[in-house]
Amino acid sequence: MAIGVFDSGVGGLTVHRELTQRFPQRDFIYLADQAHAPYGGRGGEDIVELTKAGCERLFEAGASVVVLACNTASAIALRRLQQTWIPGLRERLGRPVNVLGIIVPTIEAATGLPWSFEAERPQEGEKIQAVDITGVFCTAATAISRVFEIEIDKRREDIAVFCEPCPGLAGLIELGAPVEELTVVVNDHVDALRRRIGRHPDKAILGCTHYEIIAELFAAALPPGTALIEQPTAVADALDRYFARHPEYALGDSGRRDFLTTGQAGPQSDLVARFWGAPLTFDQA
Ligand code: DGL
Repeated sequence: MAIGVFDSGVGGLTVHRELTQRFPQRDFIYLADQAHAPYGGRGGEDIVELTKAGCERLFEAGASVVVLACNTASAIALRRLQQTWIPGLRERLGRPVNVLGIIVPTIEAATGLPWSFEAERPQEGEKIQAVDITGVFCTAATAISRVFEIEIDKRREDIAVFCEPCPGLAGLIELGAPVEELTVVVNDHVDALRRRIGRHPDKAILGCTHYEIIAELFAAALPPGTALIEQPTAVADALDRYFARHPEYALGDSGRRDFLTTGQAGPQSDLVARFWGAPLTFDQA
């Protein structure tokens, strides 16, 4: 048995790397749905079906828990899969399985509050001043879902959230575009967000795992000192707590690492190799 990590492409490697450092003995299977990447411009039903197919492939390969290392899939597909698919799948497979997302831990890190926290709504006439601005860079589908605005606002009315959709950016990263080209796109989006807010945000969330691969370009485009919420760390922390509460999941203990793609098997781009610290090859799923 193993921990499955799923993304439309190479973005989920940012989460995978943190998880394997946190749980080095565990077995991991990474699946990139590169035949269908990017997901960010797709419709909701499409994202649900593709995510389900990817998870199915990972459960077949021996995963007991699949982490959706993709904000788009977590925002659009996670709840549907947990509510309508996983219960029947557990019965069919006759073993405990689950799908987990990465947005809940990110909201917890961004708010400094547990997911279960319920803020008291302000009294009639009581005004809450937003003191902190958090900018979220994400795919079009994640921005349309408004998940970051809604869930942060429920817990922290003093944080104003602005999402900047970056259509096309995940696709460029997937293709391993040159850093110069990526820098122009990142600078444009950081500037667009600044113009919309009237100033730069105090904190930023890279709300698409692909963007974490080029986190240093975002850090360079934002003013020095802008706090970047560390999504991979937040996910690893949450998973640690989840496994402590759920010893029923068999996670393997031989340190196996498999990397699969629904697209073309072979070495990933130089951009990925630079992030990874070594060339990385995916096998055919
Ligand atoms: N890496 C994914 C995310 O976090 C998906 C990007 C895409 O496929 O558009 O949103």
